[in-house]
Amino acid sequence: MKKFVVGVVFGLCLPFIAAFLFVRLGGMPVATKSPPLPMERYLAGVALHAAIEKEAGKPSPLPANEANLLAGARVYQMQCEDCHGALDQPETAIARGMFPHPPQMLPPKKGVTDDPVGVTYWKVRNGIRLTGMPGFGESLTDKQLWQVSLLLLHAHDLPASAKKVLHE
Ligand code: HEC
Repeated sequence: MKKFVVGVVFGLCLPFIAAFLFVRLGGMPVATKSPPLPMERYLAGVALHAAIEKEAGKPSPLPANEANLLAGARVYQMQCEDCHGALDQPETAIARGMFPHPPQMLPPKKGVTDDPVGVTYWKVRNGIRLTGMPGFGESLTDKQLWQVSLLLLHAHDLPASAKKVLHE
């Protein structure tokens, strides 16, 4: 009986010992160039989705007119371009060296034009933990957060004034 208990306890501990050794012996990918662990991308995606779904149904309180898109372009150029790229430009060195990779948001790439604007607003306000995507809830005003979210939604049909800012 005693042997049986010891066996069960050892059996239960085994996965933890294995996990500890995996990390301790340097198996865990820590460099940005390392490939993701099995399930890593899936789990990160599910967790993010579940958190956002709770409060992302909001429509934009601002219209997507030229003034707001132009203001959004100014925010983007100051705060986002280093990671998410300028209009019609190749990826920056910062973007190339990051893991996970910051998606390129402006044409010729697709960006987040498919996402509801409330989802983009949520991500820009709160950031995405452990990815390098900062939360801007404390540095941008609520109006600016919506303006830059509208800009990304309309990345493929921007007025000339906004495009000009994004080319600079
Ligand atoms: C320091 C680099 C960095 C900066 C600056 C940055 N981001 Fe990001 N962003 C990232 C990374 C990395 C991801 C990818 C996160 C992931 O894989 O889940 C990301 C993801 C996003 C996403 C989600 C994309 C998707 O496909 O779901 C949005 C939207 C976004 N960023 C918008 C912005 C906006 C708007 C700004 C500026 C106000 C900004 N980001 C500034 C690094 C950055």
